[in-house]
Amino acid sequence: MKRILALALTFAFLLGMTACSQTQERSAGSRAGETPSSEATEESTVPDTEQKTTPEAENPGKFDFETHTVTLNSGYEMPIMGLGTYSLSNEECYNSVTALLEAGGRLIDTAYMYHNEAAVGRAIRDSDVPREEIFVITKLYPSQFDDPEAAIDLALETLDIGYIDMLLLHHPGAGDVETYLAMEQAVADGKIHSIGLSNWYIEELEEFLPQVNITPALVQNEIHPHYQEPEVVPYIQNLGITVQGWYPFGGRGHTSELLGDETISAIAEAHGVTSAQVILRWNLQRGVVVIPGSSNPDHIRENLDLFGFELTDEEMAQIAALNRDEKYDWY
Ligand SMILES: NC(=O)c1ccc[n+]([C@@H]2O[C@H](COP(=O)([O-])OP(=O)(O)OC[C@H]3O[C@@H](n4cnc5c(N)ncnc54)[C@H](OP(=O)(O)O)[C@@H]3O)[C@@H](O)[C@H]2O)c1
Repeated sequence: MKRILALALTFAFLLGMTACSQTQERSAGSRAGETPSSEATEESTVPDTEQKTTPEAENPGKFDFETHTVTLNSGYEMPIMGLGTYSLSNEECYNSVTALLEAGGRLIDTAYMYHNEAAVGRAIRDSDVPREEIFVITKLYPSQFDDPEAAIDLALETLDIGYIDMLLLHHPGAGDVETYLAMEQAVADGKIHSIGLSNWYIEELEEFLPQVNITPALVQNEIHPHYQEPEVVPYIQNLGITVQGWYPFGGRGHTSELLGDETISAIAEAHGVTSAQVILRWNLQRGVVVIPGSSNPDHIRENLDLFGFELTDEEMAQIAALNRDEKYDWY
């Protein structure tokens, strides 16, 4: 009897998951003139059984090392490497985004709390790169959760680039579910393409996901060789959610320790690349999107140049062995 009950529950759960992901595919593919990708449009109109025959459906979130992108569970394509803008002043931020776009980078991470969304938007508007080629992530801070509609409109107004590619909740906090539901509405209204979370781990996800309708497309968490999240990363990926790492070099104050690490430096020397490139490539080979922060155009170019070498299984294992479960920030 218990077994039959367990089977029935599993079946009901799987039905629920399918319905949830279909809801999101429909909303991503149904906006006129904003089709995320041809595959997504086809997927949203064919029966579920046929979807499973496409490579994307079999491997949601699998990185494409030819195009340097990942297809999110929302159907939109996102570059797998880009630029983080935390702690950059408006002027630094404008110059860094400009350098990134000139170097071919197309992914930018900002947040209400970084106070530089306006500079990101201005650099994008001033560039020659078509808006639809650029992917901008921004975040709502918990202090904004009491009026989510106003917070979403403020982000749209401050960025001033038409729509937001990805909006995240910056941290868990009072009102986060209601804010996420308002973000779901903004997706339906065409203001935002994809939505996700930041600083959500296994317990937080277990509690949060049953309360919302759209599965997050992205979870952005602290990830670097000293804090690798070996259980959290596959847990999130197995939900069909793309993982993105913040503080890839440990954040300011820890970069020299990570970039100067003997193991990482030896691997870098063997490939004729820098330690920064090894760390970023290690992330990509684990299926983790990277957004290193930088105000130095040379570093920005270097951080995009990750596809001329490949780490061996042994090198991946050597870096895995550097994990200390040591966070470099409190959240
Ligand atoms: N969701 C969250 O709660 C959260 C929290 C923190 C950060 N983030 C995001 O994650 C991004 C990355 O974190 P972060 O910027 O704080 O720290 P980070 O990327 O770990 O480190 C940035 C530092 O690395 C240096 N650097 C960058 N590229 C380099 C290279 N190729 N060689 C040598 N040094 C290099 C930068 O110096 P130069 O300026 O001289 O290049 C800067 O001092 C942030 O910018 C932000 O977008 C999110």
